[in-house]
Amino acid sequence: MTDALLSIRNLCVDYLTDAGVARAVDDISFDIRAGEVFGLAGESGCGKSTTAFAIARLIRMPGFVSDGEVLFDGQDVLRMDARRLRAFRWAQTSVVLQSAMNALNPVIRVSEQVCDAIRAHQRFSQDQARARTRELFALVGIDPARLDDYPHQFSGGMRQRICIAMALALRPRLIIMDEPTTALDVVVQRDIIGKISALQREFGFSVLFISHDLGLMLEFCDRIGVMYAGKLVEAGTARQVGEQPAHPYTQALLRSFPSLNGPRRRLQGIPGAPPRLTETIAGCGFAPRCESSESACFTQAQSLAPVSEGRLVACARVSRPVIAAAQTLEAS
Ligand SMILES: Nc1ncnc2c1ncn2[C@@H]1O[C@H](COP(=O)(O)OP(=O)(O)OP(=O)(O)O)[C@@H](O)[C@H]1O
Ligand SMILES: [Mg+2]
Repeated sequence: MTDALLSIRNLCVDYLTDAGVARAVDDISFDIRAGEVFGLAGESGCGKSTTAFAIARLIRMPGFVSDGEVLFDGQDVLRMDARRLRAFRWAQTSVVLQSAMNALNPVIRVSEQVCDAIRAHQRFSQDQARARTRELFALVGIDPARLDDYPHQFSGGMRQRICIAMALALRPRLIIMDEPTTALDVVVQRDIIGKISALQREFGFSVLFISHDLGLMLEFCDRIGVMYAGKLVEAGTARQVGEQPAHPYTQALLRSFPSLNGPRRRLQGIPGAPPRLTETIAGCGFAPRCESSESACFTQAQSLAPVSEGRLVACARVSRPVIAAAQTLEAS
């Protein structure tokens, strides 16, 4: 794909644990285009945060990237020297985490913290940085008159919005958001996501978005990748994934979430548990929990294959007929 801002290629991340090497991210590849909101979905422990951290080169021991590339505008982030990495981290990409609001220093006025972040990376005078901070506060819907308050004088939602303002400060081209609103109540959460969405449309940055709220992801994201036990099992537009999930795991995941707009229905859990990441699995990792698995699913490894325009699925039962049809076409 030529218009990708970020290309993840065969990324693998391992953690050294007492039980052995745990492969938390297992050979995943996907692209994020300029101006696109790409979501990563999947149950707890499937490797979403590890993927996000690896992209921002924030993985620390006992974790390490064991293979693959993270190409930003064609440059491999994993091989950047310290100077280029510093520029990439702030000017090109910024990260907003669930706990970001707790990272504000409680004894320093927020204006000073935002100004310092700006001045550390751009040649701004104190007045220019302050003017920019005012602008940023207004953008995220916080009264600039409160610039000189301390963090504890703001609510959690406001502090999270200040962190989003900081993330926007240097006009990055990609913002990685790992559960940016999970600690907040649903109303505040929607308000913040609405703000981010409006800013995203105005400034055109790309977003890698991670949330436990699948309904929110389907609304906010352009495309979604679904992870299971460290692997990407399905990727497509939010509409494709939400309305016609192809992988049995995606189907099960959607059945386990309440729909915001659809009819009321009984929620279903997914029986069983994901495999241990220290185990090497021959076939599809979801096969033991899958309603439609057959014997080959336990022995043949699955990788993402195109099943329709823009849609990739790693499931023999879904992709086999499509690939067979394509081969017949090629042969004829
Ligand atoms: N420091 C660590 N040491 C060992 N294993 C780790 C470490 N950090 C994460 N893991 C393992 O890597 C796997 C992926 O974790 P990760 O935090 O990426 O999941 P996640 O999809 O973000 O989950 P959640 O939705 O709960 O945030 C998990 O099995 C986790 O136990
Ligand atoms: Mg996580």
